[in-house]
Amino acid sequence: MRTSTLLWPVLLAQTGTAITVDPTSSDSLKSAASTVAHGLMSFYNGNDTGETPGLLPQPYFWWEAGGMFMTMIDYWSRTGDDTYNDVVTQALLFQVGTNQDFMPVNQTKDEGNDDQGFWGMAAMLAAETNFENPPSDQPQWLALAQAVFNEMASRWDPSTCGGGLRWQIFTFNTGFTYKNSIANGCFFNLGARLARYTGNATYAQWAETIWNWESAIGLIDGSYNIYDGASDTDNCTEITRLQWTYNAGIYLHGAANMFNYTKGDPTWQARIAGVLKAADIFFDNNIMQEQACETVGTCDTDQLSFKAYFSAWLAQTTVLAPFTFSTIAPLLATSATAAGAACSGGSTGTTCGFKWTSSSYDGTTGVGQQMSALGAINSALIQVPQAKAVVPVTNSTGGTSQGNAAAGVTAPDVGPAMAMSAPVETKDKVAAGFLTFAVVSGVIGGSVFMALES
Ligand SMILES: *[C@@H]1O[C@H](CO)[C@@H](O)[C@H](O)[C@H]1NC(C)=O
Ligand SMILES: *[C@@H]1O[C@H](CO)[C@@H](O)[C@H](O)[C@H]1NC(C)=O
Ligand SMILES: *[C@@H]1O[C@H](CO)[C@@H](O)[C@H](O)[C@H]1NC(C)=O
Ligand SMILES: *[C@@H]1O[C@H](CO)[C@@H](O)[C@H](O)[C@H]1NC(C)=O
Ligand SMILES: *[C@@H]1O[C@H](CO)[C@@H](O)[C@H](O)[C@H]1NC(C)=O
Ligand SMILES: *[C@@H]1O[C@H](CO)[C@@H](O)[C@H](O)[C@H]1NC(C)=O
Repeated sequence: MRTSTLLWPVLLAQTGTAITVDPTSSDSLKSAASTVAHGLMSFYNGNDTGETPGLLPQPYFWWEAGGMFMTMIDYWSRTGDDTYNDVVTQALLFQVGTNQDFMPVNQTKDEGNDDQGFWGMAAMLAAETNFENPPSDQPQWLALAQAVFNEMASRWDPSTCGGGLRWQIFTFNTGFTYKNSIANGCFFNLGARLARYTGNATYAQWAETIWNWESAIGLIDGSYNIYDGASDTDNCTEITRLQWTYNAGIYLHGAANMFNYTKGDPTWQARIAGVLKAADIFFDNNIMQEQACETVGTCDTDQLSFKAYFSAWLAQTTVLAPFTFSTIAPLLATSATAAGAACSGGSTGTTCGFKWTSSSYDGTTGVGQQMSALGAINSALIQVPQAKAVVPVTNSTGGTSQGNAAAGVTAPDVGPAMAMSAPVETKDKVAAGFLTFAVVSGVIGGSVFMALES
């Protein structure tokens, strides 16, 4: 890093320290990751007496806590440091809700599909990494991910825009009329991973359907740029063309799972290569940046955390689609070094800022900044030969998490059953139940329409 070498003496003089990252050294990366992880978890007090496990303090929304526990599972899986595992398990299990589907009553009034999706992906990662299984009387990681997937499938809504998930689950929330890439990305990502993990082709068919819909509507364009979303009030004809790192990451990683599941399907290979090429815009001098808001300083609390997930999904892509390794590995190395150099704030001189491109602390502090730096540094471990390669397990390669293909579908907030798999003779009942429920809460269960049409 030329810039960081230049600024290094200045930083030393000003703050006394920063986090030096030698991206060729497993020890250096692990030590840096440990420092940053400690800083991240210091924002969390949900495990203290009288606090609610799983929640971050204001102003952090519920979904971001899910993203944080996902990042902490990734941290453990690459570094072997299990310091925080009990805290992570406690948080995930406390937030499962009464239907064991990450729809806890305290959150449902404003929970969107993407919010539920991040907790679901945390559970999926726990299954893929053989994170210690919960006691047998508790919900299991794989079943939790399946519950979230099944409920998303039940919400697929072809009544507008030819299909797609809405951003929001409930009509009364702003964003119910918006169909966006992150909500559909969570569904796609979970479907692709469940296909690979379980070998069940139904999940893969959904992943195909979601990708095809995103492309048909123009949320993924011909050059594999992935845009934010579109309103269904004009049938998704006007695309909001903002591009976020986490959207590129979530589709890239899902596509890598499909590529691996299909044993190298060239269609998925081309999609991976395309998204990766389009992701050039998220790098300046090979250093990751949230280009839509970072350069102009307008990233909000949520957006400050996106680089964490993007980093992790890039790293996991190199394992499932090894042809991407030579492109991704150097990007993670330079980003990790720059992120470390930007961790030179606070009283300890190791608090992480957000702008890595200047390789110095930008004066901002928060969960997103800290988590993004951890994501980059932790993910860079994939490019060090002496670090253990973490291959996500499957049902047939050592995965021990117990699944439940029918999980979640009885949840009252999404309708009585997942109509897509309901036998013909139950369809009337399903539809009747749906109508009753629709009157009560106004939620649209898209799959019911699909079942009635088929
Ligand atoms: C909560 O977890 C942190 C680690 O993140 C730990 O240091 C702390 O002691 C825990 N608090 C309680 C009350 O167990
Ligand atoms: C829901 O909120 C109540 C009141 O703050 C709290 O006691 C409870 O633990 C919360 N439950 C969850 C799952 O967050
Ligand atoms: C809405 O868009 C879908 C998908 O492009 C299309 O199939 C459908 O005909 C459109 N509906 C209307 C009313 O234009
Ligand atoms: C699928 O992932 C495994 C584990 O990393 C890898 O060995 C294999 O080559 C991948 N499959 C393809 C088609 O790239
Ligand atoms: C793997 O799948 C098989 C077949 O569905 C099932 O019998 C077995 O219990 C699964 N293994 C685990 C660890 O869930
Ligand atoms: C495959 O997944 C679908 C969708 O969740 C489910 O309905 C079906 O029971 C699963 N099949 C098996 C063999 O687990």
